[in-house]
Amino acid sequence: MAKAHLPGYQAAAGRAEIVMCCDNNPQLAQDFSAKLDNKPQVVTDWQEIIANPNIDAVDICAPHFLHAPIVLAAAKAGKHILLEKPMAMNFDEARQMVDATSAAGKIFMVAQNQRYLPEHALIRDWLNKDAIGRVIAARIDGNQFLSRAYPKGHWLFSKALAGGGVIRTTAIHKIDLLRYFLGEVRRVTALYSTSGLNPGMDSEDIATIAMEFENGAIGEAFFTFAAYQNPIPTASHELVILYGTKGMINNINGWHMYSTEVEAYSQAMTSMELPNADYATSFVHEVKHFLDCVETGQEPITSGRDNLNTIAVIDAIYTAAETGQTTLVQRS
Ligand SMILES: NC(=O)c1ccc[n+]([C@@H]2O[C@H](COP(=O)([O-])OP(=O)(O)OC[C@H]3O[C@@H](n4cnc5c(N)ncnc54)[C@H](O)[C@@H]3O)[C@@H](O)[C@H]2O)c1
Repeated sequence: MAKAHLPGYQAAAGRAEIVMCCDNNPQLAQDFSAKLDNKPQVVTDWQEIIANPNIDAVDICAPHFLHAPIVLAAAKAGKHILLEKPMAMNFDEARQMVDATSAAGKIFMVAQNQRYLPEHALIRDWLNKDAIGRVIAARIDGNQFLSRAYPKGHWLFSKALAGGGVIRTTAIHKIDLLRYFLGEVRRVTALYSTSGLNPGMDSEDIATIAMEFENGAIGEAFFTFAAYQNPIPTASHELVILYGTKGMINNINGWHMYSTEVEAYSQAMTSMELPNADYATSFVHEVKHFLDCVETGQEPITSGRDNLNTIAVIDAIYTAAETGQTTLVQRS
């Protein structure tokens, strides 16, 4: 993900300079440094970055089990922080990170990049303009095959190192996005399984989740890391469907809207002429937003404080699946 964030910093030349980069695999850190004209110093121990007083901000793209220790150390050292999702392995960790960064008075932003996709920002504008009325239901869906993207033995296959499987790692993207579109989630119910198709994976790679939002809307989610022998992207690779009282929006073969309120969209499902998940763009916007917040002191759209409630939903989903009970989200 560090490579994915890099164009964001390259686009922000003059506002931020990468001066050190760390990976405990020195070759990877070296390769990253080689991409930059100023050839940042390479280290293999992240504590060296924290200890450097000349560094104002850190961008953390580490495995999930390292998120809390690095954030807590960076907050103590007074750094601004951009942290890859999921913020934490559980809500307690997330709470500690938010408390520590608040006490430090520094920017703490979680890289929920989907909120920074231009099409998602535009969809939110349409929703705020009441184009489809009150959203009463939403469907989201994501299909990946983890073993196609990562080698056997990778930390993402380990519950102890990743804090879960497809729910904490990937469903979190669209759940956070639905919070952005619809508001908070009140309660959830869920089922999950481990297919065995990802060798060595000890957490869930298939999950189905039902959500009830505070506004009464119902959400349905299906996510899998076991899209084995399926062409990727599948037909519904990253599905979003929003049903409103005055229309609907979906991203099936591109973004479409039907609206009884907006004439241009009132005849049929009509193309919104928006890009469909030009994913790389999101990281450039994300890094820009982080630097804007560092410069102005404004709270990020995806601040750690905001993200507490996303982590609370994720934890509730695991509890619901493990107990078989519909579970209230224990929000901050
Ligand atoms: N926003 C997105 O679309 C998206 C996509 C994929 C991953 N992610 C997130 O990005 C983060 C990183 O995932 P990734 O796919 O890049 O994983 P990765 O395994 O490719 O990268 C993690 C890197 O951390 C290094 N590392 C491990 N332990 C270390 C240590 N103790 N000190 C220093 N470096 C260490 C590894 O060598 C590896 O290069 C995760 O939080 C993941 O959920 C986000």
